[in-house]
Amino acid sequence: ALTVDASESIAPIQPTMYGIFFEDINFAADGGLYAEMVKNRGFEFVDPMMGWQQPNSDRHSMNLESGFATAIKSKESPADQTYIQVLVNKPEGYELINEGFRGMGVESGAEYLLSFEGAKGEGEVSQVVFTLIDESGKAIGSTTVDLSGTDWKVYEASIKAKATSEKAKLKLTFKGAGIVNLDMVSLFPKDTWMGREKGLRKDLVQLLNDLDPGFLRFPGGCIVEGRTLARRYQWKKTVGPIEDREILVNRWNTEFAHRPTPDYFQSFGLGFFEYFQLAEDMGAAPMPILSCGMACQFNTAELVPMDQLDPYIQDALDLIEFANGDVSTYWGKLRSDMGHPEPFNMKYIGIGNEQWGPEYIKRFKVFEKAIKAKYPEIIIISGSGPFPDGEHFEYGMEQLSELNSEIVDEHYYRPPNWFRENADRYDSYDRNGPKIFAGEYAAQSVAIASPDNRNNWSCALSEAAFMTGLERNADVVVMTSYAPLMAHAEGWQWTPDLIWFNNLESYGTANYYVQKLFSNNRGTDLISITEEDSPLTGQSDLYASAVKDANTNELIIKVVNTSKSAQEIDLDFEGAKVASKAMSYTLRSDDPEAVNSFESPKGISPAAAEISLSKGRLRTSVPSEALVVYKVKI
Ligand code: AHR
Repeated sequence: ALTVDASESIAPIQPTMYGIFFEDINFAADGGLYAEMVKNRGFEFVDPMMGWQQPNSDRHSMNLESGFATAIKSKESPADQTYIQVLVNKPEGYELINEGFRGMGVESGAEYLLSFEGAKGEGEVSQVVFTLIDESGKAIGSTTVDLSGTDWKVYEASIKAKATSEKAKLKLTFKGAGIVNLDMVSLFPKDTWMGREKGLRKDLVQLLNDLDPGFLRFPGGCIVEGRTLARRYQWKKTVGPIEDREILVNRWNTEFAHRPTPDYFQSFGLGFFEYFQLAEDMGAAPMPILSCGMACQFNTAELVPMDQLDPYIQDALDLIEFANGDVSTYWGKLRSDMGHPEPFNMKYIGIGNEQWGPEYIKRFKVFEKAIKAKYPEIIIISGSGPFPDGEHFEYGMEQLSELNSEIVDEHYYRPPNWFRENADRYDSYDRNGPKIFAGEYAAQSVAIASPDNRNNWSCALSEAAFMTGLERNADVVVMTSYAPLMAHAEGWQWTPDLIWFNNLESYGTANYYVQKLFSNNRGTDLISITEEDSPLTGQSDLYASAVKDANTNELIIKVVNTSKSAQEIDLDFEGAKVASKAMSYTLRSDDPEAVNSFESPKGISPAAAEISLSKGRLRTSVPSEALVVYKVKI
C-alpha cells in the first residue's frame, strides 16, 4: 500500500516549478515563432541576396537582359547597411522571388500584410506586383502597389490567399522600365498571437501557453555565449525599431555538418521586448540570461579579460532598468516608448549559460557583487557545466555553495536509462545549499544531439519518471525546463525537441504531453507519497510524487510505471478526507518507439477517466509503461 500524507506541507511548490526554455535554435525564432515570412527581408545577410532568386537573370552567364538586382552597401547604420537597386529592363519580364524559410505557409482565405521600403530611381517603374505563388508557380494571391517619388518611403498593402500552400514563395514583378530601390520587404500573416501586427505565430504560442509555463527563459542556450564574444547575444541590439536591430549570424548556422544551415541568421524581430511581452502574455516569470564574458566553451572559449568586464556588467544592470525601471530612467523610457510603460516585474537574471571552471566563478563573483549592490531583490541564476556527473560540476557546486549562490542551473542530456536511474538525484542534495534550476534536459534516444534522436515514448516516459524526483524534491528544485523547445521539420540542428512545426502546422511530442501533465497539475504544496516510509524511486519500476492544490482543494498524485506489465496500487490517504470519485489522466503507449507526428499529432496524449474510491482508498491498476495523474477532491 502507498500512503499519501496530506497532513504536512513539506514545501511550497514554486509557481516557477515548470517553465519553458526558449532558444533560437532549429529556426525557433526566425522561421518559427516570429511570423515574418520573408527571409533576409533587409538584404543584411552575409550574402545580401541569400533567400532571393532572379530566375530570369543570371550574372554568371551575363544574362541580364530582363533586369537584375544589385546590393548597395550604404553603411548608414550597422543595422541597416544594405538595400537593393533593381534595374528593370523588360517590364514584367524580370522576376525577384523570396523563398521564405523553407517556403512560406499560406492558408486559403487568410490575409497577409505586406510592407516594404521603396524609392524610385531613374526611368519609370510605376508599380510593383507582389504575387504569392505555390510550389508549381501558380499564383495564389497578389497585390499591386503604386510607387511614387524618389524619396524612400514605407509602402503597405495586403494579399488575400486563394489557396493553401506549405511552400509558397513571394514573387515581385515590375510595371515600367527603370530603377527602383527596395529594402525591408516583409510579409506577415494578419492573424498573429493576440492580433499583434508583425507579431508571433499563433499556433506555436498557443502550444506554449497551453503548458501554463511558470517562467520563460530566453534567449538560450549557446546563442547567449556565441562561438566568439563578438557574436554573443547583445540584448541592446534587439530592442527599439525593428529596422535598427542588427542582424547576427546564428550560432547554430553551421554547427553540425550533417545539418548545415548557412541561411540561419537572427533578425531579432523577436527581441528582448517581445520576449518580456510573451512571458507576460503567458503569466510566466521572465528569465533573461546574459553573457558572462566567456564565449561557448565548446567552441573558442574566448574570454574577456577581467579588467574589461564592465560593459558586460553594465548590460546586466541596464537590462534590469529596461525591465523594471520607471519611465524617467533611460532604459525604462525605451520600454515605455515601445508600448509598455508598466514594468515587466523581472525577478530573475541568469549569468552565463553552461559555463564552468575557475574563469566562470571569477566572473560570476563580479557580476553578483554589482547586481546585488544596485538591485538586491533580483535573484541571480548561476551556470554549471553540461556534464552532471563530472568533476568540474562538483567544483562549480562547491564554489557556488561557498558563494551562497541562490540558484544553480543544471543541464543534462542523457540516455533514457540515466533519467530512470537518477530519479533520486536530488534526494541527497544539501538542503542548505543553492536551489536548483533543472534548466535543460531531455532523454536522448541515440546520443547527445544525434540527428537520429527521436521524441519516442521510451524517452518521454523516462523523463516522467525523473520528473517525479524533481517534484519530490521541490524544496530544493525550484525551476525546471525541457530543451530544446522547438524545431522546424526542415530547419533543425538538434534533436530531440519538445514541439515540431512546419510552415503551416505544429504538434506537441509525447515529451510535450509529459511536461504538460506535470505543469498543469503542479499544485501548491509538496506532500509525501511513500511505500513503507520510502519514496518511490523506481523500486518495482514505480515512481511517484504527490502535491496538494490549496486553490482547487485537490490532492494530485503522479505515478509512473516503467514496467511492461500493469501494476496494482492501493493508495491510502492520511490527513485529508477524500471524495469518493477521482479523475485519472493516463499518458501511455504500448510501443516504446512510438512518436507523435504531423499525421498523428496527438497519437500519444492524455486520456481522462473517472474512477471510484472505496472507503477513502484508491485501488487501481497503473497500466504498463504509463504516466498517470490522479486528482482527488478533498
Ligand atoms: O539545447 C541545446 C543546447 O544544449 C543549448 O544551446 C546549450 O545550452 C546546451 O548545450
